[in-house]
Amino acid sequence: MQFKQGQFLIDKIRGKLKINKYQEWLPKEGDYRKTSPMINIQPNSFYDIFRTHNNLPTQKWEQYLHIYEKHLKIFKEENKPVNLMEIGVDRGGSLEVWSKYLPENSQITGIDINPKCAEIEFNNPNIKVFIGSASDVDFINTNFSDANFDIIIDDGSHICSDVITTFEEFFPKLTPGGLYIIEDLHTSYNKKWGGSYKSPKSSIEYFKNFIDYMNFKYIPEFPIETTDEQIEKMKKMHEQIASLTAYDSVIIIEKYNIPKYRAFKSYETESKNITKEELLSQNLTLCNTETRFEKFFK
Ligand SMILES: C[S@@+](CC[C@H](N)C(=O)[O-])C[C@H]1O[C@@H](n2cnc3c(N)ncnc32)[C@H](O)[C@@H]1O
Repeated sequence: MQFKQGQFLIDKIRGKLKINKYQEWLPKEGDYRKTSPMINIQPNSFYDIFRTHNNLPTQKWEQYLHIYEKHLKIFKEENKPVNLMEIGVDRGGSLEVWSKYLPENSQITGIDINPKCAEIEFNNPNIKVFIGSASDVDFINTNFSDANFDIIIDDGSHICSDVITTFEEFFPKLTPGGLYIIEDLHTSYNKKWGGSYKSPKSSIEYFKNFIDYMNFKYIPEFPIETTDEQIEKMKKMHEQIASLTAYDSVIIIEKYNIPKYRAFKSYETESKNITKEELLSQNLTLCNTETRFEKFFK
């Protein structure tokens, strides 16, 4: 790390770096807001639950509260227990907030490298904490070999290599139709967390590739140095990644309900009135809006 900082200074002195004069970084210690300046908050929304939570402490950036409401509301509406896993327990408050926000009997699992997290007393018996590193493959295999989660949140070390390893280990454990959420991706622009702008090692660059994965079947040719292994990996990801939603510091990846095994159809509007029965008899795939995620494939 010291070497990297030294290199950064040398590059700066040599004029190889252009400093971003618009940079705004983390708030100073003690700068966290305790109260919300917002009004007209929907009762029981994520913002409301977070704002009124008064047991174990937690801290989330303001935009996250709205992002979570937008993407997790559907789980609430379905009103079926879900399995959520959060990497990074810290003082335990976020696990309690998830358990309050999500449907009754949801299972909340936390992972933290800090053994002190095992001593936290939660107000809900459905919250369980595992001590270990979320990028330690042995730890994951020992404790989570058969586990499946509907929602996975990475709020752990935020070190780029950890974020990538954790994703590669845990994404296969995400239930079809589930969400994988990575917080604090602003760290990926910073050498302190093993990243920098456009660095191939940065976690945000890793996730930018997912746009290519989703569009994999439209790529007519690859650079000659692309290995068969890389192409197979892209195909595998193509079959699973339904969407990637990027926000300031947060990325949300949605897994297909059913692996994508064929190209999307192209639909044309009808020139006459047509009933639902007639449409069905034509064997057109209808999006089922009654399920959590649109089912594109029958
Ligand atoms: C930002 S805090 C988590 C905050 C919590 N999620 C919340 O919202 O209140 C980050 C936590 O990640 C833990 N951590 C750091 N590296 C980790 C790793 N490799 N695996 C699991 N947890 C890790 C730290 O011990 C710390 O408690």
